Amino acid sequence: MTEQAAHIHDDEWVRRPAAAAEGTNCTPEQYEAMYRRSIDDADAFWLEQAARLEWTRKPTTAGDWSFDPVDVRWFADGQLNVCHNAVDRHVAAGNGERLALIFEPDDPQGPVRRITYAELQAEVIRMANTLKKMGVAKGDRVTIYMPMVPAGAFAMLACARIGAVHSVIFGGFSPEAIAGRIEDCASTFVICADEGWRGGKTIPLKRNVDAALEKVGVKAVLVIRHTGGDVAMNAGRDHWYHELSDGVAADCPCEPMAAEDPLFILYTSGSTGKPKGVLHTVGGYAVWTETTFRYVFDYRPGEVFWCTADIGWVTGHSYVVYGPLQNGATALMFEGVPNWPDHDRFWATVAKHKVAIFYTAPTAIRALMREGTAPVERHDLSSLRLLGTVGEPINPEAWRWYSDTVGKGRLPVVDTWWQTETGGVMITTLPGAHDMKPGSAGKPFFGVCPQLVDGDGNVLDGATEGNLCIARSWPGQARTVYGDHDRFVQTYFSTYKGKYFTGDGCRRDADGYYWITGRVDDVINVSGHRMGTAEVESALVLHDKVAEAAVVGFPHDIKGQGIYCYVTLMEGEEPSDDLAAALRQQVRKEIGPIASPDHLHFTPALPKTRSGKIMRRILRKIAENETSSLGDTSTLADPSVVDTLIEGRLNR
Ligand code: WT7
Repeated sequence: MTEQAAHIHDDEWVRRPAAAAEGTNCTPEQYEAMYRRSIDDADAFWLEQAARLEWTRKPTTAGDWSFDPVDVRWFADGQLNVCHNAVDRHVAAGNGERLALIFEPDDPQGPVRRITYAELQAEVIRMANTLKKMGVAKGDRVTIYMPMVPAGAFAMLACARIGAVHSVIFGGFSPEAIAGRIEDCASTFVICADEGWRGGKTIPLKRNVDAALEKVGVKAVLVIRHTGGDVAMNAGRDHWYHELSDGVAADCPCEPMAAEDPLFILYTSGSTGKPKGVLHTVGGYAVWTETTFRYVFDYRPGEVFWCTADIGWVTGHSYVVYGPLQNGATALMFEGVPNWPDHDRFWATVAKHKVAIFYTAPTAIRALMREGTAPVERHDLSSLRLLGTVGEPINPEAWRWYSDTVGKGRLPVVDTWWQTETGGVMITTLPGAHDMKPGSAGKPFFGVCPQLVDGDGNVLDGATEGNLCIARSWPGQARTVYGDHDRFVQTYFSTYKGKYFTGDGCRRDADGYYWITGRVDDVINVSGHRMGTAEVESALVLHDKVAEAAVVGFPHDIKGQGIYCYVTLMEGEEPSDDLAAALRQQVRKEIGPIASPDHLHFTPALPKTRSGKIMRRILRKIAENETSSLGDTSTLADPSVVDTLIEGRLNR
């Protein structure tokens, strides 16, 4: 059990169902009945949920899947277009004047943009026809590298409209990372902005794309003017959006898509190798994001929903774009950061736009908690009705601050556990249906069948702790790793045959609540950003003075986990501050600023077994400063390495 889970008590309930239950779409009794039916009569249940969407051909079957061998299909004979469901159908239903997006710029004095569904439709059509003009066809992969501006959403929806497969890359990734992702999925088009804004500074998006395209070629780049900063345009390859879109037609049909056609690829880190291109398909993802958004956030027409995630992450895909828009909701897009120009930016923005539902990450909550209550109290937060968190375990202290200071003790807080691979929320309390326990994600969402298993794959019953698996398929599940189905099967379905293995450790209490304890593999979670320790190691050993590197996570007050790197140098090389700076730079270059090491620990040797395997368990303990509980070190080839490492840490 992790330290965090250890000091939480199962009886620490926060009971607030009555206040939340009023008018909610799910009472405790409804949850029980719906959950049972979603398992016992899954087909009928999911066909009913799917019926809220408009299909060009209605599906007659729901799940058609096996985890051994791995083959997953949902709504397989159905046909629909997600862009139609997120945009056009609301306009056709007479809701064209409803607000779809509100854009809050980085600069609080800058122009806010309010985009109705009718305007969104026009914008998406303009982008879709421009993509066609550029040569983009159904099935083509299109890389999107954009700031958090409405055009990013237009680009995703335009791809969905014409059946192109988008691959959004977060703006914090480096040119090398962009090149690797373009190459991996053989993407032939890029959509980017000239630059983005972040806390008053510009991010050179087009320049990063140019650097990436020195390594890998594409047919064309579409550049959206945002900051107006100077960028180089490569004649014949690069096109300004405002020029190329001039004169395109004002209509563009939504391509009818088979439910199992690909919708998007999103790269995410695993415990080994390069990031994986997780592939989601049209029908199941549409139903999963529509249904989870509806029940988890209990959205009511007219409310403003704000998910602070970037569209470069799955949270932004599912709960800035596809979930809210398919529900006809108003979603806020914010380009800036929580602490600029001041630590009250989130709360100022909630008050300014009368946000009702606010969804953010524990790392942001912990950072803002440090600034005390004054920045929160400066603003009228009475519009808030529901709070949510996602991305990493939330410590009960941060949960309480969020609930008490931001929520004034009157709002439900949903702690939503899910992953890039799950497409949408999997474990959460539902407002109105469940009481909350600070630090627990709560209960399985409809159709989700969690199992805790021990190291040998035995399924554990009752209150217990183990590795979190999902025993049955759900519509939003990723279907494959792009171009490498074997890797998909190996990564998720080989540890425990016949089950999807999440990579997370988890505890279930006597009330059936789930408490995620964190990753049990070599993946770390830094400020809610998922990182493979192997990727950071690969970046470090590229430096010619480095012999070996081993990277582990360690507990970090704000980030959740920090990045701790052990490095051994080539014969004759000496550690220095310059070398440390060069190694940090190396990691930023290969992956991006989000992977910057917190600690570099130069050591003459790493702890290895006689067969040469690095004992990461020991490295984790030393990084955590838990040197009194190192466990058995007798199998090490040279046990004295451990003392050197401990000394090295103390001297740091
Ligand atoms: C990993 C997935 C889900 C979108 C954002 C992250 C951790 C996520 C929670 C939560 C505890 C959580 C898990 C998971 N995680 N949500 N509510 N409580 N841990 O997506 O980048 O694919 O990362 O984030 O460890 O496996 P991701």
